Amino acid sequence: MHLPGHDRQPQPAARHVKELPGLPLRTKAVQRIGRAIARALAEAGADVALNYTLGEAAAEAAAAEFRDLGVRAVTVRADVSREDEVEAMFAHTITAFGTLDILVNNAGLQQDAPVEAMTLEQWNRVIGVNLTGQFLCARAAVREFKRRGPRPKVSRALGKIICVSSVHEIIPWAGHVNYAASKGGVMLMMKTLAQELAADRIRVVGIAPGAIRTPINREAWETPEAYASLLKLVPYKRIGEPEDIAAAAAWLASDAADYITGTTLFVDGGMTLYPGFESGG
Ligand code: BGC
Repeated sequence: MHLPGHDRQPQPAARHVKELPGLPLRTKAVQRIGRAIARALAEAGADVALNYTLGEAAAEAAAAEFRDLGVRAVTVRADVSREDEVEAMFAHTITAFGTLDILVNNAGLQQDAPVEAMTLEQWNRVIGVNLTGQFLCARAAVREFKRRGPRPKVSRALGKIICVSSVHEIIPWAGHVNYAASKGGVMLMMKTLAQELAADRIRVVGIAPGAIRTPINREAWETPEAYASLLKLVPYKRIGEPEDIAAAAAWLASDAADYITGTTLFVDGGMTLYPGFESGG
């Protein structure tokens, strides 16, 4: 089981290359996958605006760490499910940096329950953060990309939006109907926005993490028994690390991925390969 509202926590990362100019705004940036992505973008030379809800001190610590890499970093508190707070977050970011070039829609949470026990509040909270939050941030980013116009010295694209989803954008997940529905929604939102915005040279892509070592799924990996059971679902036979997601995000945000839009990159050690068929069928 997963703790209600419990999500990704901070984690440090690896290398430093100046290859990705631009100004990303990363939602839910102080917890683990978010922080790893933010760091990878900062290492690639991007200034970063870090969104958080709780944990101001962790956000400030991350920003200080990224400033040591030689980029600018600001923090901004916003509940991405709230339109007014999202609008204020973008206004703050644009005031600080002048514009933004990359949005990483990462904020996400689980509030699990069997359907007969799931409350409307649990349903609405998960859809609100995981899906509506991504819509609100994407809309604000698109408005800014179009207002600001091309920046050919920064990127071939007018802007990039990375939607962090889950293997559960395609794998049904009993006991998690709100979460699976939110991630399925993110997938078609991402594809629809990609189709709608391609002619504007705005790229919209997805990353679908599998089981990544974060607090959201601690019970799935923290004991040897749980870990062994988890690996039955992972053909590559290891849990993912936040840096696996971060490396994919930094690449997708760069011009090396300029011809990629409207698709999801699964970073899941093969979890979506029907692992039950490894030795059967
Ligand atoms: C969930 C994790 C889960 C993983 C694989 C993720 O989207 O947040 O709790 O371990 O999918 O099932």
